[in-house]
Amino acid sequence: MLPEQPVGVFDSGVGGLTIAREIVRQLPAETILYYGDTAHVPYGSKRVDELIRYADAIVAYLVEQGVKAIVDACNTTSAVALNYLQSKYSVPIIGVIEPGVRDALAVTRNGRIGVLATEATIASGLHARLLQSLEPRLKVYPQACPRLVPLVEAGIVDGPEALQAVTEYVEPLVKEGIDTLLLGCTHYPFLAPVIQEVAGEGVTLVDPAASTVRQLGDLLKGHGGLRHVHGSRAHTFLVSGSAGGFRRVAQKLLGWPELMATRRVKLLD
Ligand code: DGL
Repeated sequence: MLPEQPVGVFDSGVGGLTIAREIVRQLPAETILYYGDTAHVPYGSKRVDELIRYADAIVAYLVEQGVKAIVDACNTTSAVALNYLQSKYSVPIIGVIEPGVRDALAVTRNGRIGVLATEATIASGLHARLLQSLEPRLKVYPQACPRLVPLVEAGIVDGPEALQAVTEYVEPLVKEGIDTLLLGCTHYPFLAPVIQEVAGEGVTLVDPAASTVRQLGDLLKGHGGLRHVHGSRAHTFLVSGSAGGFRRVAQKLLGWPELMATRRVKLLD
């Protein structure tokens, strides 16, 4: 691993940008090679074998491009494909589920944790399993949220439509008395203000981005691959769908003034 190699980050679309922006915050010298599989978004409604096939093709491509480490910045593929990817590739790959689980456990006081995620992630049961393996007395309330990823992909993160969808998913969890709400999909932090409004002040939202990137920093340091020299911030964003559409929504969500090298690279049909 060499410090000047880029870090690979992938997701079904714009969700992984919540991880990318955290990398920029915590590890500003790093260069990011991002892949958003927007031709196949949403991943949440896909079968496990399809998800493995997509994630495998993306990781193979990122490795070919010379990344030194990869963040699977998608809970859905972290839930169903991460073990497979880690055993197949020698480049280190970290996921977003475990950091989120550890953060949620550290935050809860009353032991009632809600988990918002995609249908496929909830169906995997991984968040609940990991939480309860660390603390068997926890009560976990999983909630699949199929309407949220399409909203965020369209750049809709506030207003009546977002509020209505978030209310449908979050209100039942609040009624169960949760004090912690794990955002188990990397798209959801973009909706955090609306989610917080519906959940109320007594509920702490957990975004796994900060601890995922701390784990990445430790990993790079451990391999002598942490970059200290600031180059030009030449991050590259690749997508399987429309590059223009991605750039427009990404710029709106991140508020980065001048973005970004975005290109279309189609890997699979
Ligand atoms: N950001 C992905 C996740 O964390 C969203 C998956 C989707 O496209 O449905 O699960």
